[in-house]
Amino acid sequence: MQELNTQNKLFRKKLLYWNRQYNKRQMPWKGEKDPYKIWLSEIILQQTRVDQGLAYYHRFVDTFPTINALAKAPETIVYKLWEGLGYYSRCKNLIATAKYIDKTLKGKFPSSYEEILALKGVGPYTAAAIGSFAFDLPHAVVDGNVFRVLSRFFGIETPIDSTEGKKIFTQLANELLDKKQPGKYNQALMDFGATICKPQLPLCETCVLKSNCSAYLNETVSKLPIKEKKITKTTRWFFYLLIGPDNAYFLRKRNDKDIWQNLYEFVLIESPKKITPGKLATTEAFKKIVGTAPFTITTVSRSYKQLLSHQTIHSQFIHIKMKKLTKLQGYKLVAEKALSRYPFSKKYHWLFIRNKTINRRHPVENLSPDFNKKNVSLS
Ligand code: ADE
Repeated sequence: MQELNTQNKLFRKKLLYWNRQYNKRQMPWKGEKDPYKIWLSEIILQQTRVDQGLAYYHRFVDTFPTINALAKAPETIVYKLWEGLGYYSRCKNLIATAKYIDKTLKGKFPSSYEEILALKGVGPYTAAAIGSFAFDLPHAVVDGNVFRVLSRFFGIETPIDSTEGKKIFTQLANELLDKKQPGKYNQALMDFGATICKPQLPLCETCVLKSNCSAYLNETVSKLPIKEKKITKTTRWFFYLLIGPDNAYFLRKRNDKDIWQNLYEFVLIESPKKITPGKLATTEAFKKIVGTAPFTITTVSRSYKQLLSHQTIHSQFIHIKMKKLTKLQGYKLVAEKALSRYPFSKKYHWLFIRNKTINRRHPVENLSPDFNKKNVSLS
């Protein structure tokens, strides 16, 4: 085994000391040995922060206690449980992997790093996490949090998003890994990055690693890590037309090669820029949907913003009353009371139907969590 230099030794030792003495972070998957549950938690955590991920984790584990239960579930129900997490291709991979393990591997979760890495939706970070937690495999987790901690402690200025940077940090992370207790070490590093060596406002003054931390000693904490590229974001405006005969609305499943595949949506008109509902009503796209029959715009919601990794989506919901409406190509009519069974990109989308003034008087984000829970029922 390779000898560690002094700084590397100190890092490992102090990180594990911090973990033993000070790390009070409790999470249901900590110490978990069932690879199915670990995999589930890691897939959810690819997508969200721990505080939000907890509720999703509990709902998934309660609804599908085994991989077999998940593999056998109707896909719409799985998407419904994933609703609100975003990145729906991850849910698609989750379903595919559950079915693959259940059928092809006869329900046995793979136990080598290479086999775990070969699962759909599992990259090197997730494979290292699952492998080390469930099977004590000696693979270091390497992600943005790890890059940040290492670049600060070791004072590395190589950009973390460069090819060279990725190589340097990955190699260092694997050298530092405590191969006798890889699961414990990996979890300690994740927790340290999330609670102490945070991107903004890190807790340097109380950090037990500070006396050996290069960035702390050189006052470069706020400069590190260095990134060379900026992501460019596109902005899109989605106008949802809430139309249908009494107590039913037109809905369709998104199938295009675009965000939110397999989720449902109301009649959608997209615009690259903000326009007023009045102006929208004069567009060809609107006329194609509504035709020449008389209509009235009854309510218009405020616009809601969803921040995705590479896109900002503004959504506005417009209720339209029409005298005569029979069919809309590509859409199906869904009864109002059945809407909550469909997965949408945000839980609140279908709520605009239920209470047409909800957007004005009660910001939907403030609804009680119980309200959302009811919608996950499988009956
Ligand atoms: N992020 C990804 N995996 C995690 C884990 N196991 N614990 C905390 N945060 C995480």
